Amino acid sequence: MEVLEHRAERDVPPARCTRRLRFVMLDPRQTREQESQMAEHGTRQTEGRGQRYDNVLDTIGDTPAIRINRLAPEHVTLYVKAEAFNPGGSVKDRLAVNIIEAAERAGTLRPGQTVVEATSGNTGIGLAMVCAQKGYPLVITMHDGFSVERRRLMRMFGAKVVLTPKAEGAVGMLRKAEALAKKNSWFLAHQFETAANADIHETTTAREILADFDGERLDYLVTGYGTGGTLTGLARVLRKERPGTKIVVAEPANAQLLASGETQGRREDGAPAHKHPAFEAHPIQGWTPDFIPFVLQEAVDSGFYDALLPVPGADGIAWARKLAAQEGIFCGISAGATFAAAIKTAETAEPGSVILCILPDTGERYLSTPLFEGIAEEMTEEEMEIAASV
Ligand SMILES: Cc1ncc(COP(=O)(O)O)c(C=O)c1O
Repeated sequence: MEVLEHRAERDVPPARCTRRLRFVMLDPRQTREQESQMAEHGTRQTEGRGQRYDNVLDTIGDTPAIRINRLAPEHVTLYVKAEAFNPGGSVKDRLAVNIIEAAERAGTLRPGQTVVEATSGNTGIGLAMVCAQKGYPLVITMHDGFSVERRRLMRMFGAKVVLTPKAEGAVGMLRKAEALAKKNSWFLAHQFETAANADIHETTTAREILADFDGERLDYLVTGYGTGGTLTGLARVLRKERPGTKIVVAEPANAQLLASGETQGRREDGAPAHKHPAFEAHPIQGWTPDFIPFVLQEAVDSGFYDALLPVPGADGIAWARKLAAQEGIFCGISAGATFAAAIKTAETAEPGSVILCILPDTGERYLSTPLFEGIAEEMTEEEMEIAASV
C-alpha cells in the first residue's frame, strides 16, 4: 500500500479561521493522539454564514485560502486559494456574472437576448450557470479537443454547445462565435477583451486576498493565465496595496508566449489577428490560448509580473494528483501546474516566506483527461486482496 509522507505540525502562524475549532494536522497512523485531540476539543461545530442568499450568483467569490501542510517545503508557508469553492466550480464564475451584469447595467444586453461565447469550458460553465439563473439563452462555441464532461455540464445548465475542429484552435472557436453573433444579433461575451474580466478580479479576488492576509506576510502570488483576467485584476491591486508581494506567472513549458517576447498582432477591437508564433498545443486546459489576450496585454504593458516560470504539462498533472492524495485538495490540471510553479518559487524563496497560489478549478472536470489516466475503474490487485481478506 502506498505510504504517504507525513509531516509534523509545523511552526507556522495559525491561519485566520472562521470556524470555532481548529485541528492540528495529524498523521493518520497516530490514532491514539488523534483520539486524545478529539477528546480535548470535541466534535467540530459550524455557525452558519449568518445570512440567506437571494440566488446562487450571490454565493460567488469569498473562496478560502488554505494552508498546505504536507507538500510545502519546510522553510516556507504555502497557501492555495481554492476557486473550486465557487458554485460553478471555477474562478470563471466571477467573470461570467460580471460580463452579464456589466452588460445589463450598460444596456448592451437586452432581456431575453441570446448570449454567445467561445470558451474552452470554465467560462462556458460559469456563463451557463449565470444565464440559467437570469433567463438568457446561451450558445457556446468550443473546439472538439476539450474534455467531454465540460460540454455535458454546459448542456445540463441548458446551454447549446457548437463544436469547432481542434485543428483550428482557439482562433477557430472565436471566429465561429463572432460569425454567429453578427448573423443573429446575439450578445458576444468577449471574455478575452472585455473590461468586465479583470475588473471583477480587482473588486473581488484581490480584495479577498488583501483581507485574508491583512497584517500577515505575503511574499509571492503565483498564477497562470487563460484570458489574463485573474492576473491583471489581482496585479492592479497588489502593485498598489501590497507592493512587496512578488507576482509570479506560470505558462506551459511548450507554449511560453510571454517569455518569447514576441508581440501579438491585433485587430482594432483588440482581438488577435493571428496565432502567436510561440504557441504549441499543451495539456493544461484553460491556460494560454494560441494568442496573447487583450486582457493579459495590460499585465504585459504595465510590468505586472516579476517572474515567468515554464511548467511542463506532466508536472501539472503530477502535482494535481499529489494535492488530492496528500492534502485532500481536488483540483484541475492548471491548478496543479500553478502549484508546480509555487513549489519552484519556494525553492529560491527566503526562509519564512509566505506564498499564495491560485487553484482555478475542481478536478471533476477532468475525468476523461490524462489527469485520471491510470486511475483504475475496476478493483486493483491490492483491493482484491483486501476484499478476499475477510
Ligand atoms: C482551468 C483554468 N485555469 C486557469 C484559467 C485562467 O484564468 P484567467 O482567464 O483569469 O487568466 C482558466 C480560465 O480560462 C481556466 O479555465
